[in-house]
Amino acid sequence: MGIAQVVAPRGTRRRKWAKALVQAARTAMGSDGLQEERNSLKRSWAKHDPNALDQYLVTGYQNPRVNAQSMLTRHYLIRQLFGDQFDALMREELEHCVKATEALRTRAAELGVKMGTFLNPEKRAGVEEVSEVIADWEDAYEERWAAALSGRTAGPLKVLEFACGSANDFRFFDSYGIAEHLDYTGVDLNDGNIDNARQRFPGVNFEVQSVLDLPYDDDSFDHVVASDIFEHLSPEAMEQSVGEACRLARKGLIFTFFSMSDEPEHEVRPVRNYHWNVLSAPRMAELIEKQFGPVEVIKIRDFMTNEYGYKRSYNKKAWTMIAKPAP
Ligand SMILES: C[S@@+](CC[C@H](N)C(=O)[O-])C[C@H]1O[C@@H](n2cnc3c(N)ncnc32)[C@H](O)[C@@H]1O
Repeated sequence: MGIAQVVAPRGTRRRKWAKALVQAARTAMGSDGLQEERNSLKRSWAKHDPNALDQYLVTGYQNPRVNAQSMLTRHYLIRQLFGDQFDALMREELEHCVKATEALRTRAAELGVKMGTFLNPEKRAGVEEVSEVIADWEDAYEERWAAALSGRTAGPLKVLEFACGSANDFRFFDSYGIAEHLDYTGVDLNDGNIDNARQRFPGVNFEVQSVLDLPYDDDSFDHVVASDIFEHLSPEAMEQSVGEACRLARKGLIFTFFSMSDEPEHEVRPVRNYHWNVLSAPRMAELIEKQFGPVEVIKIRDFMTNEYGYKRSYNKKAWTMIAKPAP
């Protein structure tokens, strides 16, 4: 898919050159531009009720217990900790995802509910009504994973999560028994989200930070995890933020996208104070490869069809990318 063959191994001249490119992007945007976008993003997310944010992206298809991309992120961390010994359980869990996705889809059609990621209470109520269809078995894998991983010695992996929301994924890193093997930091620009996350997990490091400009030293973390954030940034800020992830991670990256396509260029769609872009998969893979290393590109719909025989998708534009440092 046109992914750049030439990568920039860490510590090489080529890597320095790639870093210089990021610096150039930063300069082109200017610190005023960055500050302006940060402020505008902060304003646009600040208008939401913290109680609604606490439930945002954890219901319906986005429920991390049944969402394929949330599973892939958890599986990625489990593989970093324990190698391939749990691959069979991962397969079973993804089959569970197919069953749940199909049950939600069928129920939504029966009730005439439009599924989506809503902050609006009425629209969310519809999604919650649909979600009742899986309520008795959505957590089938929670206890199995917690039992499989507890009492084991591994890690801790030093993980930084970009735009962690109200611990949307971390709450399941915890209940699935992964968090105890992590030295985790979650950052989000929204104070309400960070307050929610701290209330849930008082001992965990959640910080109000912008992913455009993070105050950590190069290579401070083993892995950087980011879900559903890059589409909401201007192209310049997105490049800047991907550059931050590449700068901070020593061992790997896993990025989840909700709005991506095979197209050769990004489709930029400003929406009020932020963006709702459709990112180009080849462009994104190239950007990561240049600064970090080889990228595994997973188009979720194709992955679910080819691996699990499921021909539908909760979101045709969902992709996940996993990168490791150049050898
Ligand atoms: C679509 S939500 C995704 C939340 C979470 N990652 C998930 O997938 O459930 C986007 C999040 O990005 C946060 N955000 C927006 N701009 C940000 C920035 N510049 N730095 C850090 N977080 C930001 C918002 O506050 C919001 O929590």
